[in-house]
Parts: sequence; C-alpha cells; structure tokens
Amino acid sequence: MCGIVGILGKGPVAGALLEALKRLEYRGYDSAGIATLAEDGTALKRCRAEGKLANLEAALAKDPLPGRTGIGHTRWATHGAPSERNAHPHMSGPVSVVHNGIIENFSELRSALAAEGVAFESDTDTEVVAHLIARELARTESPTEAMRRALAHLKGAFALAVIFAGHEDLMIGVRNGPPLAIGHGEGEMYLGSDAIALAPFTNRITFLEDGDWAVLTRERVQIFDRSHRAVTRPLTRTTAAAHLVDKGNHRHFMAKEIHEQPEVIGHTLARYVDFGAKRVAFPDLGLDLARIRRVTISACGTAYYAGLVGKYWLERWAGLAVDIDIASEFRYREAPLEPGGLALFVSQSGETADTLAALHYARAQSQQIAAIVNVTESTIARAADCVLPTLAGPEIGVASTKAFTCQLAVLAALAIAAGKARGRIDEAQEQALVGALGEVPRHISSLLADESPYEAIAHDLAKASDVLYLGRGINYPIALEGALKLKELSYIHAEGYAAGELKHGPIALIEENLPIIVVAPGDALFEKTFANMQEVAARGGRIVLLSDRAPGELADAVAHHIAMPELLPFTIPLVYALPVQLLAYHTAVFMGTDVDQPRNLAKSVTVE
Ligand code: M6R
Repeated sequence: MCGIVGILGKGPVAGALLEALKRLEYRGYDSAGIATLAEDGTALKRCRAEGKLANLEAALAKDPLPGRTGIGHTRWATHGAPSERNAHPHMSGPVSVVHNGIIENFSELRSALAAEGVAFESDTDTEVVAHLIARELARTESPTEAMRRALAHLKGAFALAVIFAGHEDLMIGVRNGPPLAIGHGEGEMYLGSDAIALAPFTNRITFLEDGDWAVLTRERVQIFDRSHRAVTRPLTRTTAAAHLVDKGNHRHFMAKEIHEQPEVIGHTLARYVDFGAKRVAFPDLGLDLARIRRVTISACGTAYYAGLVGKYWLERWAGLAVDIDIASEFRYREAPLEPGGLALFVSQSGETADTLAALHYARAQSQQIAAIVNVTESTIARAADCVLPTLAGPEIGVASTKAFTCQLAVLAALAIAAGKARGRIDEAQEQALVGALGEVPRHISSLLADESPYEAIAHDLAKASDVLYLGRGINYPIALEGALKLKELSYIHAEGYAAGELKHGPIALIEENLPIIVVAPGDALFEKTFANMQEVAARGGRIVLLSDRAPGELADAVAHHIAMPELLPFTIPLVYALPVQLLAYHTAVFMGTDVDQPRNLAKSVTVE
C-alpha cells in the first residue's frame, strides 16, 4: 500500500526523503513523489514520477528540490491510473498532502468543491483533502484549525501528512485507520508509515492510535485524539527499525527470506516450546485452552492458508471445533458467534484492513481475541487480548514466505498446547511432536542446499499458461499456497484444489500442456492422492510430484519428482511449504518478473 514519509530537518531533506521512500518500496507502489518548502519555507515545490523510485531519483537529479521541510510518498493506485498527474503529493495553494488509504466520500466532496469553483488536476481522492484544508486555511489562517475543520468532512480509512507554505517549522500527521508513526530526532522530527522507513534517522518512535492527529515542529509534538482532546502516547524504542533492510548475498529479498526460514522458524518455535525437555512452553496469555468451545479463524491470502493448516491441526490434535473464513467474507457474513469463543486472527503486517474489521466484528460478538502477527506494534496486535508473535523479522518481499512458515510454527505449538490442555495429547505424544518440530529447520536447510531441481522445473512451468496444484487433507492448504505464490510472482494462472475434488470438475482441464503439481507426502492419505495421480496420468497429464515416495508405476507421467524427506505427518506443512515457494521463485526469476514487488500487489493491504 502507499507509503508516507515526512521530515522537519536541519538541512535539505529531499535526499533523506528519497532514502526513506526506498525503505517503503516493499509495500508495493506504482508512482512516487516528494514536496518540500523552498525559499525559506514560503514556496511549495514538488517532483513526481510514474513507476519506480529510480525515475523519481532521475527527475530530482535534473531538478533538485531545496528545503528543510518535506513530505514524500509511494503511491499504490486506488482512484485514478498510475501516472505522474495522479502521483502524490497533491497541492492546493499553500497546502501539500500525501495520503494512504481511501476517502470514501470523495465524490460528494469533489462535487461540492467543484461547485465552489475549485479546479481539479488529478483523478485522486487525495486531491479533495488538499483543497478542503486550503479552503479552511483561507477561512481561519491557522493550519491546525484548518486541519481540525477539514477532518470533520472526511470519511474513510486514511493516513495523511501535510505541510503548509509559510509555516516552515510545521507538519501535521493524521491516522484514521492505516498506521502512522512519529520519529523523534535531535532537533528534527519525522513521520512515516512504519518504523522501517524511519530507521536511518531514529529508533525513538511514537505510534499514533487510530483517530489521532499530531502537530509536529522540530522540537515538539502535540497529539490529539478523534475528539480533538490533547492526549499523550508512549514513546518507544523500536527494534524493528534497527534491522538493516538489505538483500545480503541474495539476488532478491524473497530469496533471502526463503533462506532465513530455518533460523526464523527455529526462533519462533523456541518462543513456544522447550526443545530440551521436548515439551510445549506456551506462554500464559490468559487463554483457557482447556475450556475453549470453538475457535474462529480469520485472515487474508497466505495468512488465511496458514490459518487453514491451523484448523486441521487444532481439530486433529486438540479436538477443537474450528471455523475459518477469509476476513473479507467473514466481516460481512453476520456469523453468530457463541460468547466465550476464541477468535484467532493471522496477519504478517498486523495492518490488513479486512482482518482488522473481522477482529472488530468478533469483539462485538464477545469473543476472546488472539492475534498471530509479525509486527508486534501493529494495529491488530494492539487490538487483541493476546498476541502470539511470529519472530520472522521484517518481511520485505511482497510475497509472503518466512512469515507463513513462522505462522505455521506458532499454530503447531498452539495445537500441541491445546491438545495437552484438553487431555488429547499425552506426554509421549507431546515429546514426539515437539521433537519433530525441532527437526524442521534442519530439513528445510537440507532442501535449500540444492535448488537446481527447482530451476529445471521452473523452465517447464514458464511455458505453461495454467498450472494446477493438488493436495489432500493438511496438504490442501499447501496446494492453495503454492498456486497463490506462482500466480503472484510469475503471473501464470494457477489454481489449488483438494485432490478429492479433481473428479468434480477440474479433471476436464487435464491435457499434456497443463502441469499438475501434486503435494503428496507419504501420509495416511497418500494412497488416495496416488489414485488421483493415476486419473491424471490416464488423461495424459504431466505431474510434478512433491513426495518422499517414489512415483513407482507412474514414473512415465511424473515429469519431475522433488524427493522430500520422510517426516512425521504433523510437520509436513512446514517443510512442504518450501518446495512450493522455490517453484514460484525460480519460475519468476526465469521469466524475469519483478520478484520482490510483483505488479499490482501491495505488501500491506490497509484498504478494503
Ligand atoms: O499482512 P497480512 O498477513 O495480513 O497479509 C495478508 C495477505 O495480504 C498476504 O498474505 C498476501 O496474500 C501475500 N501477497 C501473499 O504472498
């Protein structure tokens, strides 16, 4: 989603704004821009460019922006095509604005402003904000009062950063939904969509709460809540900001993050299990796992697939009734939830708008709220009763990899803890399950030691226009995740299906040009999946088999076999996530797509 940055600096800020925007690139964007206050703060200047930040950098090199006060933005188009004229910052007279989110009532506002004689130069919802503030400023002459009045007109979920010509030591930030953080420097002040953007400048961060707006000068911050009452918010020292956002020796962030999995899965597991004693060591978070009657899981995209694996684990090992739904559906479904149930939300960013709305729905239905998040300062984490962090570290690649497997790690530990609390898992089983989890990082490391098989398969997949992924039982969500990864990264159409559904429709697609990737570990359902593979083979389909079992009589139909290690069934999803990630990654590399920032995608989807 869009990225916001603002600096009240001691010296020229355009270069620092550009650097901060580079750190927000991972969120996904299609154009970018910067505005500064030049000529002693009396004149607004801006530079914008369609496409990547390199274009903005080149434009700035030609026509540098002076000034110690400025705002910058990476735009992910919602209203109006990705183009220079729609890129932020937007301006109206002495006001310049950058915005993340959506102004829901922008059409009404636009018509009203147009009727007052305002001329628009873009198709964006953001421009109405600039004109509204400028109109109020003309009436009150106080930027703070103008902002307060303008906010009364705006509906939607948005974050804003605003600067004013003639007010060189002033910047106003607003958070109404999407996150916004204040960075405190020495005689400097910053605004950013997240702490990562501000990392080079400061780790002293104040996260605005939903509904807050803040008036910043170089020496002072005043924060107001939604009702315009002055409030104080804690100043924290963030560790997220300390992480260096670089690719190491890898070609892409995604490759780096795939390779980090043995380490981060190990870290995450160590938070929830005691490897030495081979027992779960689930922190006491106020969850009464023995008494919970029903769990409702909600999430989006890859996080939803992690939740789906969690459903299989919680049902099988803890005997818990689990409902799961995509957050964008759940939030409007009006599902009746029995009071006292546990609602579990899974989100890497902790900012996904639909997941947050689903959380609010569950809260209104008297559920206890637990959140599995990677960003512990996020909105979802702060709205939950109990937070189960994944310790994946910042995930920069837009396609989720290490966050997914770390979400699985938390869910696996939760299933064991719940199974134990509910008397479904005895000590010997607990030891076996925790012992098997302890082996996951090693299995993943050995799979990562040789990626050449994936490169070979990628060359084949790249020729396909459609790919089918099949899996059964707990491997079904891995098939879904494999299809999503391939779609996102290579733009090849891919679908994941429960293998048992093959005969109910998708079998009609099978012909020699359709690669079928079968996730078929040698578990209790292997024979069933093998029967589906026979059906595929009989129709001339080409199979890519991910299994610890040999293809045997289907050797002719199996074009590629990734030989997987033999695993305790419990840990299969954690390890089988890896080959589906590598297949998508190598296909994208071979096809030359933008691996870390696939087209049209945003890292954190803070609008509906
Ligand atoms: O930050 P979240 O985990 O809530 O994000 C959910 C999805 O938007 C995300 O998993 C998305 O599907 C990724 N692009 C998957 O690679």
